[in-house]
Amino acid sequence: MSTPQIFVSLQKVGRKFKPSAAFERLANLADPMAYDQLYAESVNAPEKFWGRQAKEHLVWRKPFKQVLEWKPPHVQWFLGGKLNVSENCLDRHLGTARENKAAIIFEGEPGDVRTITYKQLHFHVCRLAHILENTGIKSGDRIAIYLPMIPEAVIAMLACARVGAVHTVIFGGFSAEAIKDRINDCQAKLVITADGGWRRGKVIELKANVDRAVEGTPTVQTVLVVKRCGNEVRMVEGRDVWWKEAWEGAPNRHDAKAFDAEHPLFILYTSGSTGKPKGVLHTSAGYLLGAKLSAHYIFDLKETDRYFCSADIGWITGHSYVVYGLLSNGSTVFLYEGAPNQPEPDRFWSMIDRHGLTILYTAPTAIRAFMRWGDNYVLRHRLDSLRLLGSVGEPINPEAWMWYHTMIGKKKCPIVDTWWQTETGSIMISPLPGITPTKPGSATLPFFGILPKVVDEKGEEVPRNSGGKLAIMQPWPSMLRTLWGDDDRFKQAYFSEFPGKPGVYFTGDGARQDEDGYFWIVGRIDDVLNVSGHRIGTAEIESALVSHAAVAEAAAVGRPDELKGQSLVVFVTLKSTHTASDELKEALRAHVGKEIGSLAKPDTIRFAAGLPKTRSGKIMRRLLKELATSGEIKGDTTTLEDFSVISALKSDEE
Ligand code: PRX
Repeated sequence: MSTPQIFVSLQKVGRKFKPSAAFERLANLADPMAYDQLYAESVNAPEKFWGRQAKEHLVWRKPFKQVLEWKPPHVQWFLGGKLNVSENCLDRHLGTARENKAAIIFEGEPGDVRTITYKQLHFHVCRLAHILENTGIKSGDRIAIYLPMIPEAVIAMLACARVGAVHTVIFGGFSAEAIKDRINDCQAKLVITADGGWRRGKVIELKANVDRAVEGTPTVQTVLVVKRCGNEVRMVEGRDVWWKEAWEGAPNRHDAKAFDAEHPLFILYTSGSTGKPKGVLHTSAGYLLGAKLSAHYIFDLKETDRYFCSADIGWITGHSYVVYGLLSNGSTVFLYEGAPNQPEPDRFWSMIDRHGLTILYTAPTAIRAFMRWGDNYVLRHRLDSLRLLGSVGEPINPEAWMWYHTMIGKKKCPIVDTWWQTETGSIMISPLPGITPTKPGSATLPFFGILPKVVDEKGEEVPRNSGGKLAIMQPWPSMLRTLWGDDDRFKQAYFSEFPGKPGVYFTGDGARQDEDGYFWIVGRIDDVLNVSGHRIGTAEIESALVSHAAVAEAAAVGRPDELKGQSLVVFVTLKSTHTASDELKEALRAHVGKEIGSLAKPDTIRFAAGLPKTRSGKIMRRLLKELATSGEIKGDTTTLEDFSVISALKSDEE
């Protein structure tokens, strides 16, 4: 981790947006006094608060005896309790009014639509649970899931949970090499995949990737294959089984066993500061409670909602806020398989109108792409079914926030900017839509039971409006339990940052709390620059740049500089209405100077046709930093979405 100094936070405090009276009237929580009391209890008497929530929100087969055991860095919640996570997402709704309610509305990229009720989803999951058990899967075994965004992905996750198997979902954009590494790390016995998935009108050959991966994975015995695209695949006798064939004759009732509250539920690999991905381990009851409670309050879920989260199931957002948090609440989840600009850049807006979707949860990078594509695509559609918008994954720049608010939300939908991480399992900092006035660019205030603080190198809280490290001071139920097979790295990465404070979780993010106590996330500490002794968040510079009329996207990185420590290099993509020129460079420097101050003016501005991104849409600043520093890229590019971007950037050099 780079030098942990305090950095200056320069983001301007903008205006506040209050929830509308109409929204407040129907909100799950709208009384600020009740909220204050509940929050105070949740952090001052966490065992009382979480114990009560666990009893109210989860279905237990055996009640827990003890709410919390905290021996930093290891935590256990709801000790002695037993439950089944799939039962909590499915069986609990059977025999109620939700039984015939849609659990999933699915739209494939080619336009095929499927609706699956809770009762039907239960059948599917029960069948797959039998199939897994018949192939010899036992509780605790690991299963890799490499599927497109189709209902089978949800079915597969819930069937694993039902039989106590630990799933590791691998995003469909990862390569064979990445699949192999993950399977080998967790020693998965079975892989669930599909022949292919649709993306931008083309078939992504998933099975072919799995074939290459499992050549190097001795633990894999069975590959279960869903037929999605009908592309030709090679089936290996004795190893590969068609999902549909396994399906025939499998019973559609399954007596689920109860598992310990701390039974492992899933491993999800995520990038760390070193090259090897970290296998974040989440367990059952605490994770589910965090996902369920946060979804209920933050998305203000109503029985009639049709909720659309555009994140892939291969990321934590898909786990918590497509599957576990939503289905445990009995919600209707809309799943979309493909790209947002297929066949045209208005696909989301068309789906929202056609399916009457009420909540949209997406990422700032997507919002900026929509802005770039132009308002006309949005204005073709009414979007009047929407009542709530969410943002996740990176700081949202105030310009994108305002566009989302005005163009998509028509100024009537609250925006919940939700800060959290793969490791935290559920949302940690976010507005409650009926309570919290929002400020564009701020994730606002902590969720129940969460005690974040902005601290210095010693873990001591810094004064308001000064930047520091974002830390979480006490445990919460949905936190990661360890890194799979690497407990030392777990301790090192998350619980060793503050000397003498072994129980304080380090997020890796920098933040500032303003005079109202609102949190402004500046970005990863390793994305924070030190220019002439001033620490400045890259997100702030980028936000300033994208607020200029010519700029579509921007990424800021540091380059070592003898005089200044680091000099600031920014990569900028322009809106189609503007062209690169030296005048524009000067105008952008002046603009950043105006927005933030002279100290933040970029030393070098490079115009680019595109920025290197991960398949989940995050700008890979690491690569840009390498390019800015050495003119070369030698580091790991396996998660890069489009390789041509890199060669274009290289040839664009000044
Ligand atoms: O830097 C923060 C940023 O994303 C990181 C976590 O990434 P990941 O584990 O991939 O999970 C993403 C989805 C939860 C954080 O350390 N981040 C996430 N949400 C926000 C954010 N930064 C600012 N504002 C957010 N709302």
